[in-house]
Amino acid sequence: MRKIFLVTLAVMAMSVALVAFAGDVELPENITIDQCAKKKAPVEFTHKAHFEYATCVDCHHTSEGLTLENAAETEVPTCGSCHIEPEDAETPICSSAKKKDNPYHINCIGCHKEFKVENAETTAPTKCNACHPKPEK
Ligand code: HEC
Ligand code: HEC
Ligand code: HEC
Ligand code: HEC
Repeated sequence: MRKIFLVTLAVMAMSVALVAFAGDVELPENITIDQCAKKKAPVEFTHKAHFEYATCVDCHHTSEGLTLENAAETEVPTCGSCHIEPEDAETPICSSAKKKDNPYHINCIGCHKEFKVENAETTAPTKCNACHPKPEK
């Protein structure tokens, strides 16, 4: 009897550990996006807050099925790994100043503009300097 109880306890402890593991992936809270920054200041990005605004795959579009729960077992390559030196000339490149050629401008500004239509008071930045702060003089 006592032995069965102990085995049950051990199994319970293991499942708790597994749940803790899945929840404990190092998901960055805030990220400074700076891998391409040259002409403009690096961009502060509230990563975790965006879990409320969008699904993981809205942004990590090559990590099929990515969710908070399976993040530990899913590969999440950085945007830069494909968008700094894209293999294909058609693929958006992060060094572009244009709205339609830069993967971040398409993704970030695209969603913010859409959101603004219904939520005029939103803090979601759409102006250049709101994302790329001007250096202080
Ligand atoms: C919603 C945020 C956001 C807005 C608004 C925005 N950008 Fe960006 N921009 C980014 C991000 C993120 C990057 C990628 C930075 C990196 O990878 O270092 C970037 C990259 C750039 C780059 C290439 C990197 C560099 O520093 O040379 C330029 C140039 C640029 N933006 C200009 C602009 C201009 C001009 C505007 C206004 C028309 C603008 N951006 C509006 C987020 C934004
Ligand atoms: C609004 C866009 C957006 C959403 C939504 C989003 N992420 Fe991210 N995430 C990013 C950006 C941008 C980076 C920085 C990547 C880079 O440096 O190129 C990042 C970084 C990461 C990294 C670190 C990658 C590395 O190797 O540095 C992980 C892991 C990650 N995200 C998982 C998730 C998961 C899981 C979700 C959903 C719960 C999620 N993200 C939702 C945009 C987003
Ligand atoms: C494994 C490589 C890879 C990774 C990682 C990756 N991308 Fe892409 N991305 C591509 C390729 C290739 C294209 C062009 C073909 C296509 O649209 O799928 C693209 C296209 C895009 C587009 C244009 C889509 C459209 O409809 O015009 C955006 C925006 C974008 N990526 C943003 C991002 C962001 C933001 C990240 C990181 C959170 C990211 N990508 C990570 C390879 C990648
Ligand atoms: C799919 C939609 C979506 C995408 C993609 C997206 N955002 Fe946002 N963002 C939002 C919403 C919604 C808000 C919150 C607006 C509010 O509450 O008023 C927001 C707010 C913000 C804020 C203000 C601080 C905060 O967290 O409320 C910053 C800074 C920001 N976004 C940066 C970015 C950058 C940089 C990217 C691209 C890497 C990005 N966002 C991509 C939807 C998005």
